[in-house]
Amino acid sequence: MTAKVLQPTYAILRKAIMDFVAEHPNTAMERFKTNVAQVGTQWRDATQVHLAAAEFLDQAMKTTMPETHALAAVFHKYRNELNWEQSYTMDDKLVGQDMLNGYGFVEVIGKNGPFVSRSVRCGIGVWGSDINYPVHNHMAEEVYVPLAGNADFTLDGSPYRTRSAGDIIHVPSNQRHGFRTTSSPFVVFYGWQAGDLRQKSTFG
Ligand SMILES: [Fe+2]
Repeated sequence: MTAKVLQPTYAILRKAIMDFVAEHPNTAMERFKTNVAQVGTQWRDATQVHLAAAEFLDQAMKTTMPETHALAAVFHKYRNELNWEQSYTMDDKLVGQDMLNGYGFVEVIGKNGPFVSRSVRCGIGVWGSDINYPVHNHMAEEVYVPLAGNADFTLDGSPYRTRSAGDIIHVPSNQRHGFRTTSSPFVVFYGWQAGDLRQKSTFG
């Protein structure tokens, strides 16, 4: 599949994200609204890449909430047409094999596109069950909105606490954070801003 075919699909995802952020009532999301509202239509080629994480969306759709269902559903509908990515590799030894086998993300807006923004990064991440995303940090501030399932989060060294679909997690610049998924797949909307939008996280 070529980039020419992917652009119409990603245009639907872009609109779904922009609407989701614009309408989200939480104050943490307010911080992202200006940058997201200014995302344009500059497009950079994307290639369809499949990962196992795409298949977890099927099961995950059973655990959405009313306020997260529409956004999850649009990614579910197009899950086999998307550029699924991973930030980490076996060679960099930053995350475990459990995570490499069972996670992936779809970036819709970011410095590398496919819809180009220099100020904000948005997409979804999907993790299978029983995966540990080790504690890490990065310069950009981040917002996570679980769309389906739940995971136990730690922020700034706090004890792990369960966050579910409909919650929102705000991670200030360079705050250490990580999570462990539970017995079902976990889907999150993520946003990054105010930092290198493709910085490789620091672990530990
Ligand atoms: Fe993060």
